[in-house]
Amino acid sequence: MPSPADCRIEIVQTFDSAARASRKVANQIAELIQSQRSAGRTCVLGLATGSTPISLYAELVRMHKKEGLSFGNVTTFNLDEYLPMPPAQRQSYVRFMHEHLFDHVDIAPTNIHIPDGTLPVDQVEEFCRKYECLIEAEGGIDLQLLGIGRTGHIGFNEPDSSQDSRTRLVTLDPITRGDASTSFDGIENVPVQAITMGVGTIMDAKKIIMMAFGNSKAPIVARTLEGPVDSAIPATFLKLHPNVEFVLDSAAASKL
Ligand code: PGA
Repeated sequence: MPSPADCRIEIVQTFDSAARASRKVANQIAELIQSQRSAGRTCVLGLATGSTPISLYAELVRMHKKEGLSFGNVTTFNLDEYLPMPPAQRQSYVRFMHEHLFDHVDIAPTNIHIPDGTLPVDQVEEFCRKYECLIEAEGGIDLQLLGIGRTGHIGFNEPDSSQDSRTRLVTLDPITRGDASTSFDGIENVPVQAITMGVGTIMDAKKIIMMAFGNSKAPIVARTLEGPVDSAIPATFLKLHPNVEFVLDSAAASKL
């Protein structure tokens, strides 16, 4: 197991605000989309939901509207979705993605992939297998965006998720459900289960950018970056990836 000293400091970038950090990541994404287009290739993005990427998506929408950034060659795979979750429900990640990004750019609807929160539980395994196949058929994920939960989860890979886990049905950690309780008007309304890409699915991405903003993330960011690689904090597995960046604002970096 790598020791804390193995955390390569050059993979951590700290910005004085989440807005600046988001603009930097948006620029990286735009460059990747354009370089893939110049090479005649699709750009396959792994996308995250939650509060963290909202300004990033707003910046991408601005770049589309004001600077002509086209999503015509972009295919997306979202990390996760609650189960059960109808797509029109306020907390649905399908709805989130459409409201924050997809409805405002020129991505082809057939290029959008989000785990299906409407499936009966007995169909989830087959769906997850197909989701993995679809990613593979696209040639894998070029760039995976991630937030981090206070449990150290990436996607909904909660503590004790294994490094080689794939897209699957999971049970949410009580801390994660607690963090979602405001948007669901009470923890009793937060689904207990979800579909998530696995740690192994995420680690297969060619590049990974994990973003963390705000004071509430400072303790888990410090444990992730300064502690050992350990399934108790699934985000620590990212330190084993050859092409990962941790993009922080100064508040999230304050305990490093
Ligand atoms: P947040 O969630 O962006 O809403 O903080 C991140 C996560 O739970 O992965």
